[in-house]
Amino acid sequence: MYQYSFAPNPNWSRFYSSSAEIQAYIKAVAFHYNVYSSITFNTLVNKAVWSEEHTTWAISVDNGPDVECDILVNGSGILNNFKFPDLKGLGTFKGQVLHTADWNVSADFLSGKRVAIIGAGASAIQTLPAIQDTVTHADVYIRTPSWIMSPVLEAMATTKGNHEYTPEEKERFRTDPKFYLECRKEMEVESNKVLKAFIRGSKEQASLRANLEANMKALIGDPELQAQLIPTFEVGCRRLSPGEPYLAALQRDNVTPVFGDVDEVLPDGVVSGGVLRPADVIIAATGFDTSFRPRFSIVGQNGVELRNLWKDNPVAYCGLAVAGFPNYFVFLGPNTPISNGSVMGTLEATADYFVRIMQKMVAQDVAYFNVRADVQADFDSQTQATMQNMVWTGSCNSWFKNKQGKVIALWPGSSLHYREVLEANRWEDYEWKYRQTNRFAYWGQGFSKVEDDENGDLAYYLHAHEPLPLEAYYDASRGRGVGVSPDPSRIYPEEEF
Ligand SMILES: Cc1cc2nc3c(=O)[nH]c(=O)nc-3n(C[C@H](O)[C@H](O)[C@H](O)COP(=O)(O)OP(=O)(O)OC[C@H]3O[C@@H](n4cnc5c(N)ncnc54)[C@H](O)[C@@H]3O)c2cc1C
Ligand SMILES: NC(=O)c1ccc[n+]([C@@H]2O[C@H](COP(=O)([O-])OP(=O)(O)OC[C@H]3O[C@@H](n4cnc5c(N)ncnc54)[C@H](OP(=O)(O)O)[C@@H]3O)[C@@H](O)[C@H]2O)c1
Repeated sequence: MYQYSFAPNPNWSRFYSSSAEIQAYIKAVAFHYNVYSSITFNTLVNKAVWSEEHTTWAISVDNGPDVECDILVNGSGILNNFKFPDLKGLGTFKGQVLHTADWNVSADFLSGKRVAIIGAGASAIQTLPAIQDTVTHADVYIRTPSWIMSPVLEAMATTKGNHEYTPEEKERFRTDPKFYLECRKEMEVESNKVLKAFIRGSKEQASLRANLEANMKALIGDPELQAQLIPTFEVGCRRLSPGEPYLAALQRDNVTPVFGDVDEVLPDGVVSGGVLRPADVIIAATGFDTSFRPRFSIVGQNGVELRNLWKDNPVAYCGLAVAGFPNYFVFLGPNTPISNGSVMGTLEATADYFVRIMQKMVAQDVAYFNVRADVQADFDSQTQATMQNMVWTGSCNSWFKNKQGKVIALWPGSSLHYREVLEANRWEDYEWKYRQTNRFAYWGQGFSKVEDDENGDLAYYLHAHEPLPLEAYYDASRGRGVGVSPDPSRIYPEEEF
């Protein structure tokens, strides 16, 4: 077996919040803001059809009556339609075949089993160290290796690797808002710094590559294994993964990394390079359908079906609207910042944008908005031009690209840039259809909202203000130019005004 070259850190699994903790937080937020009352659970959306006549969407669900709505926001996600590998003989396998995204078994289930893990992306990287101690043996089928980095934001941890917050730190987060904000900002800044390293040929890319290569070499004892596990493509071309425990686990006695293609699956195991390795369980860490084609039928203007339109080439405006699909928004659509920095910040910026456009719709009696096809085409060509300078168009295989190699998943810039673009409210990029023939009819008698409110502040635009210095009046009265200092020794008689 390969030399195991560094000691495992027992804190690794605690560097990030656990899924249970994240779920508890989401539930608490939903409860606090009374979101539950607006949610219908356990309901599959089957179809959404646009009506030009009613300017509404009709939504069919699997277990209830159709729903009509003015605006359809699709938040059905990009990484949940999991994909099994298309392997000859997979259906003949005698044991269980699991997918990492459909993990409904206990650790006990894997105890004493020989396991085959297929894949070497983020899911395999997370799965292997989590089960390595439990299983009798794991064969890890690696067709393409991944760049491995240290835990993200490690510099902020007090020990190498993960950090579990102490009760004292948690108390300080609760009681010292300035400190809490500083900590959050520090982490966000780190993840928002990443873009320069993803520019082809940049010094940041070279430096990141050198660091990761040196780190991986230090963590992988055997030179032959180093050559197989250190990628030859650009860092960031595929998603970077924090995965030092994975590298450690790959070098344990009960783990065998198997490089190359899987030939086929037989009832008793997996064949690669002509060798059958027996397995009781196959874990497919083989990713998702990331084609961006919606999982349910969405029919827009003139009966166009989005799944057909996006068969090979999904194009959206800023990843959130689609020409010909009025009053339709999607979160994390094609070419949004999924790997350009913090995703949470991006999702918030997208949601705020949706709210702003909805407010405009309501306030101005808009029947529908429809992003202009020429604007969408400009967005697409600008995006692809920028991609030529990015490592994402590099020499790797990745789910960021479609079959033709076009980068369909990422924003052409940083997450901060995306935020700035949305905040500019480019409403001119849309065609607006108003409910009334005269677009200003909603003005009515011409009263403002504040006048409708009996307690409204009718001078709300006046704010506390420092009065101008008297010298300004003196200068103005004498016709002096901007930037000319008045003579402080001179006392201007009042009658000069
Ligand atoms: C293993 C894994 C780990 C990840 N870790 C991170 C991380 O650490 N940080 C990060 O930022 N991102 C991470 N991601 C990416 C993650 O997917 C997104 O950040 C996040 O989940 C996006 O949220 P979402 O609401 O858009 O989609 P999702 O969380 O995927 O939610 C979409 C929802 O829509 C539902 N749905 C789909 N189709 C239908 C339909 N037809 N009818 C009704 N409902 C439907 C789905 O069931 C699901 O509940 C990870 C992804 C994976 C797979
Ligand atoms: N903690 C996290 O943040 C986290 C964890 C997991 C996932 N994610 C998110 O989810 C995304 C998807 O990750 P993922 O690992 O599930 O999927 P992925 O990145 O698409 O990786 C799939 C892996 O399966 C391999 N594969 C597919 N079919 C195969 C076959 N027939 N034979 C052999 N190998 C095969 C691929 O090899 P090739 O590369 O050679 O095609 C690849 O190594 C990530 O990029 C990330 O955005 C995040």
